[in-house]
Amino acid sequence: MTYFPVVSARPEPVRIGLIGAGWMGAFHARSLALRIPGAVLVAIADPATAVAEELAAELGVALVTADPADLFADPEIDAVVIAGPARFHAQLSIDAARAGKHVFCEKPGALDLEELARVEEAVAAAGVHWQIGFNRRYATDFLAARRDVAAGAVGTPQLLRSLTRDPGTGSIPHAAKVPQGTIFLETLIHDFDALNWFNPGAEPVSVHVTADALVEPSFKDAGFLDTAVVTLRYANGAIAVAEANFSALYGYDVRGEVFGSAGMVQAGRTTETAAVRYGAAGLSAETPRLNIELFHDAYTDELADFAEHVRSRRDGAAAPDRGVPLTPGLEDARRALAIALACIESARTGATTAIVGASVAEARA
Ligand SMILES: NC(=O)c1ccc[n+]([C@@H]2O[C@H](COP(=O)([O-])OP(=O)(O)OC[C@H]3O[C@@H](n4cnc5c(N)ncnc54)[C@H](O)[C@@H]3O)[C@@H](O)[C@H]2O)c1
Repeated sequence: MTYFPVVSARPEPVRIGLIGAGWMGAFHARSLALRIPGAVLVAIADPATAVAEELAAELGVALVTADPADLFADPEIDAVVIAGPARFHAQLSIDAARAGKHVFCEKPGALDLEELARVEEAVAAAGVHWQIGFNRRYATDFLAARRDVAAGAVGTPQLLRSLTRDPGTGSIPHAAKVPQGTIFLETLIHDFDALNWFNPGAEPVSVHVTADALVEPSFKDAGFLDTAVVTLRYANGAIAVAEANFSALYGYDVRGEVFGSAGMVQAGRTTETAAVRYGAAGLSAETPRLNIELFHDAYTDELADFAEHVRSRRDGAAAPDRGVPLTPGLEDARRALAIALACIESARTGATTAIVGASVAEARA
C-alpha cells in the first residue's frame, strides 16, 4: 500500500498552559485537551502539584510545574488560561502579558480597579489578546437573546433581569473560608456582564443592594453574604435587577431577560434535557445540577473562541467575526468589576451607590 503525501493547510493549534488545576481549571484542561481542535494543552502549573500531576497524567500533558513563571518563560507556549484563586488573577495576567503570552482569565479580572488598570497597561504594552471567562455569552440561548437585542426585536431595553442560584444542599460548610464580597465579585459579576451585554452601549450608573446570609445566618457577623438582590440603573434609563443565592436544592439555575419597548426575550435553560416525564403526579424533568453541566458547551466555546483569537494574532490572520460583539475583554471586565465594587459598598452602607470607573475612558480621565 502507498500513501500519498499531503501538504497540510490546517493551521498549527495554539499551545496553551493552564494555571490552576482546581474545579474550573480541570474542566478547562479537558476542553483544551479533548474538545478544541484549535488548541493543545502543553503544560499545567499549580502549587498543589499532586492535583496537577493527576490531571496531566489523565490528559497526556508532559509538563507540570508548581510555578506559573515556568510557563511564562517557555517560548513554546503561546497563551495561558488562568484559573487560580481570584486574588492572584491580576498579577498572573500582568506577568503573562509581560512575557508575551495571550491570556484567558477566569473572573474577576482583578479585585479592584487599580489592579485592573495595571493589567490594562501590561496588556496594552505587550499587544496580547486578553479575554475574561464570562461564559454566559457563549450559551446558545443567551447568544440568541443578544442577537434579538441587536436586531431590535425587543426595542429599547427598559427592564433587564439576571439571576444565579448556585447548586447547594441547604448549608455551606466552607462559609468561613469564602472571601468577603464573593457573592458580588465572583458570582453576580456574571450577571452584571450579562446585563451590560444585553443593554449595549449603556453605562451602569448606580446600584442599590439588599443582601443577607439566609442560608448560613451564623456567618453573617463575619461579613458572609449568600443571598443578594441588586437594583441597577443605566444611563439610558433602563432598570435592571440581578439576584443570587448560594444554595438552590434543585441544582444550578441561571436565567436572563430583556424587556423593551417592542417585546421581551428570555434566556436560561431550566431542564437538563428536553425530556419531560408525565406521570400520575404530573410533570417532572431533570434539572442541571452543576455549572459544568449547564455550561458544558459554553465553557468549551469560550476557549475555542479564545484559541481562534490567539491563532489570528499569532498567524497575522483576521480576527473571528461572530456578527454580534461576543468575546469579553478588559472593558467588559472593568464594567462588571466596577458594578461589583459599588455593590460591596451599597451592601455595607445600605445606600444607593454610584458606580465609579466603569469605563476605560472614565478611568483615564
Ligand atoms: N466561569 C465560571 O462559571 C466559574 C465557575 C467556577 C469557578 N470559576 C473561577 O475559577 C477560578 C478558580 O475557581 P475554582 O472553583 O476552580 O477553585 P479551586 O479552589 O477548585 O481551584 C483553584 C486551584 O488554583 C490553585 N492555586 C492556588 N494558588 C495558585 C497560584 N498562585 N497559581 C496557580 N494556581 C494556584 C489551587 O491549588 C487550586 O488547585 C476562580 O476565579 C473562580 O471565580 C469560574
